[in-house]
Amino acid sequence: MPKLDILTYPDKFLRQPTKPVDNINGDLQKLIEDMAETMYEAPGVGLAAIQVGNDKSILVYDEMPGEEKRQFQVVINPKIIEREGEIISENEGCLSVPEFRSDVKRSSLVLVEGLDRHGKPLRLEAEGLLAVVLQHEFDHLNGKLFIDRISALKRQLYIRRMKKLIKGK
Ligand code: NI
Repeated sequence: MPKLDILTYPDKFLRQPTKPVDNINGDLQKLIEDMAETMYEAPGVGLAAIQVGNDKSILVYDEMPGEEKRQFQVVINPKIIEREGEIISENEGCLSVPEFRSDVKRSSLVLVEGLDRHGKPLRLEAEGLLAVVLQHEFDHLNGKLFIDRISALKRQLYIRRMKKLIKGK
């Protein structure tokens, strides 16, 4: 069982925009550690605080979670400053959108600014998988899920499937 419960679609909390972190304290460090542990256990390559029921603007990620030495990264109050190009993120998935994967159109390069876990300004230029992970998690902080970025038809099919699943429980 992951350390923290991960909220899943159609939980309305996932649709809330998040609030900026203004106090980097011990509670926040604990939350970050718990988020990272939850991400590895799930397992996933990224996790936003909103997915574990916290409405603060925090994301953790590790685009190579299989490495022996775990080195997760944290971005607090992230902003995407620049986007460039276009790629198809193949078979994208989300811990909050169970039993579904889809190709998603994403920017191929992003410039992200925010704070590290100690409150120091941070600037990240990312491409490829890392760029996709950052855009995906950044979306979460704005109440967006990757199913908002696929065709309406595909989304409807997923929504219908989930409704049936939930009814069946
Ligand atoms: Ni996600």
